[in-house]
Amino acid sequence: MVVAGDGIAPHEAWWRDAVVYEIYVRSFADGDGDGTGDLAGVRSRLDYLSDLGVDALWFTPWYLSPLADGGYDVQDYRVIDPAFGDLVEAEVLIAEAAERGIRTIVDIVPNHVSSEHPWFRAALADPSAPERALFWFRPGRGENGDLPPTEWTSSFGGPAWTRTTDPDGSPGQWYLHLFAPEQPDLDWSNPAVRHEHADVLRFWFDRGVAGIRVDSAAFPAKDPALPVTIDADAHPHLDRDEVHEIYREWRTIADEYSLPRMLVGEVWLADDERFVRYLRDDEMHGAFNFEFMVTPWDADALRSAIQRTLAAHESISASPTWALGNHDVTRAATRYGRADSSFSFDAKRFGTETDAALGLRRARAAALLAAALPGSLYIYQGDELGLPEVEDLPLHALRDPMHERSGGVDPGRDGCRIPLPWTASDPASGFGGDPWLPQPDGWSELAVDRQLADPLSTLALYRSLLRIRRDEAALHDAPLEWMPSDAHTIAFRRGDLLCLTNFGSESVALPLHHRLLISSAPLDGERLPGDCAAWLRL
Ligand code: GLC
Repeated sequence: MVVAGDGIAPHEAWWRDAVVYEIYVRSFADGDGDGTGDLAGVRSRLDYLSDLGVDALWFTPWYLSPLADGGYDVQDYRVIDPAFGDLVEAEVLIAEAAERGIRTIVDIVPNHVSSEHPWFRAALADPSAPERALFWFRPGRGENGDLPPTEWTSSFGGPAWTRTTDPDGSPGQWYLHLFAPEQPDLDWSNPAVRHEHADVLRFWFDRGVAGIRVDSAAFPAKDPALPVTIDADAHPHLDRDEVHEIYREWRTIADEYSLPRMLVGEVWLADDERFVRYLRDDEMHGAFNFEFMVTPWDADALRSAIQRTLAAHESISASPTWALGNHDVTRAATRYGRADSSFSFDAKRFGTETDAALGLRRARAAALLAAALPGSLYIYQGDELGLPEVEDLPLHALRDPMHERSGGVDPGRDGCRIPLPWTASDPASGFGGDPWLPQPDGWSELAVDRQLADPLSTLALYRSLLRIRRDEAALHDAPLEWMPSDAHTIAFRRGDLLCLTNFGSESVALPLHHRLLISSAPLDGERLPGDCAAWLRL
């Protein structure tokens, strides 16, 4: 067993400005050549991650799961899915990462479990089983109970309720699932649910895990009255006040450790005042900043997203997070190459026109912009390679339930989850012969080994910018100071370092006296070209 914090200097508030790399295990690296990424694959690439310059790894769920929602349907939190490895290997991985000074964050999914979880199986097997009280089982409405108990819809489309069949074959009660039917929602007013999760947290913290990412963090608390329709003023399942009790309890557990553990929440909320409640002193340490992620490539829009973020976090002395993407969102290199470069789950469609070269150019600039902002930086695997969204997967290859539940309208999230290309000379780019999601033609051109040999590659850019970020004290402790700039430019200082991003198509003049530290594309003499960012020492 790993002693917590081995190999890592105790720096209590490390999360405030850490660079965290998100690993979607299934698609990161394949150690046993079966076409699915695994822990052995991650272990074999720890030097890659260390050379990239990351401080922590966030693993999306690696637990035993039927993978109905890519692992966010957890069957057993104390077992690693055999497709990925086993618990001993997870412990070794945590220790090997720690030896390189890299911390580990695991994903906890409080809102639901898998329909294969022993609790839910027991609840289904017997309508009078006590396990029913761990979930939201209710009789249906209407004469025969054949209408769902409420009119709520699932985040993946379709109704949020599924009717069960009793063991004698007759139609039974309905159960609530805010996501797929394979993800029944837990009833957090039941103390057994709280105790189980407290135990799961300790299970992983005791194994040296430095933090947890809290999935769908605003959803777990429900209005027990289960109103049939949703009234926006008193939402029955989003951001209810009771949800904060969960995170207060989790914070107490995190603080029990001599090196306190951190909590970072997936909180999609438009209201800043409600958002920062999750970041109060006795709750989470951080939460994902989706406003920045979904904002289009536009100087005014991004400047105001940054200003709002900073103001909201300052109001509560919390540290912001910045991310260009994750395993749910269209890749930045594709998004920014579109006429509408904002992101919305509802607007995803097949065949949206994209200028790939422009998208990549902007994604490289956005990386410099995000990495210069005060707070922590989250990098989704493959963004450091400039990977695009893969949008022409054969329909039969699609695995994400979002595709099916949208009636085939939404391409789903598979396109940002394609196995990473490692080796250009290998037909499957270093993955097993038959990767679980097919890699498109030309993928090997983006391979890690090829990019490592190219000083102008996106990987080379990320490695340099993360090295500079680590070394520059100003990027850790100097406040952000806005600088005057024209309409198409974002300019701010951190100490004597200036970060300039040009969103226009015309080049802009650089200040007279400066030393260039890094730019996302070659400069145009003494001018910063369009869709380009630079860090300058003044
Ligand atoms: C979060 C995850 C997403 C998952 C959903 C349901 O949004 O990031 O991948 O599908 O929760 O657990």
